[in-house]
Amino acid sequence: MILIDGKKAAAELREELKKEVTDLKTKYNKVPGLTVILIGDMTPSQIYVRNKEKSANEVGLKSEVIKYPDTVQEETVLEKIEELNNNDSVSGILVQLPLPKHIDKQKVIEKIVPSKDVDGFHPMNVGNLSSGYESSVPCTPLGCYLLIKKIEPNLSGKKAVVVGRSNLNGKPMTQLLLKENCTVTITHSKTKDLKAECLEADIIVAAVGIPELVKGDWVKKDTIVIDVGINKTDKGIVGDVDFDEVSKNAKALTPVPGGVGPMTIACLLKNTIECFKRSQI
Ligand code: GUN
Repeated sequence: MILIDGKKAAAELREELKKEVTDLKTKYNKVPGLTVILIGDMTPSQIYVRNKEKSANEVGLKSEVIKYPDTVQEETVLEKIEELNNNDSVSGILVQLPLPKHIDKQKVIEKIVPSKDVDGFHPMNVGNLSSGYESSVPCTPLGCYLLIKKIEPNLSGKKAVVVGRSNLNGKPMTQLLLKENCTVTITHSKTKDLKAECLEADIIVAAVGIPELVKGDWVKKDTIVIDVGINKTDKGIVGDVDFDEVSKNAKALTPVPGGVGPMTIACLLKNTIECFKRSQI
């Protein structure tokens, strides 16, 4: 079984990005800039944002975090996004989710100009991705995709089962696999026989938020299994895949933590650089 080392893959990607930033600096005499908006004091969000800032600095990006208390008015946030949209030194804008209840997530996402939407959540980017046009691609599925390609460069004709249909992961993951000519099945909580679907798969991407849902006898011998889940349980953080069981069966598996997580952040930096490059044309 191949244990897919997301930390190592992310470090390699950051190294490539660092070189690219150096080249861009020589060419344009400026570096891509990432601005993250963090609302409230939710600990997981604070940790994610700190990691994003650290990684951005590591590859040489200009990085800024704007913090608001969770009582901030929606209008204040929308005005700030407008200002960032018009600021040439900002290449990418990310508003950390989840947001407090009184702020309309969709309004915030749609306020970010699509060319600076490093999350790929704006309907324009969602549409472009599904039409096969150039777009920002959500960071987590992009990270999963790069890990899968490392194990299996030619995905054409493979059967992929995506467990979960969220806008953040399942749906964009499906688009990326389709582009690679996979035959993709999207499954979810109402799927009749999830085990039978998974047993058909050459690739499984589990992103449903149910601890250790995917069992050992759901997985064929040659299957690549990507675990997007981060679930807090009595025995600590576990994924959506039963690691002990599936690691005995699968061809390759990502651990939690140390699998998809580090790649997500590296892909955010990649998206920021892509936005910068597109803005220079
Ligand atoms: N919160 C958890 N994951 C994400 C993400 O990928 N993007 C944003 N903006 N917020 C998140």
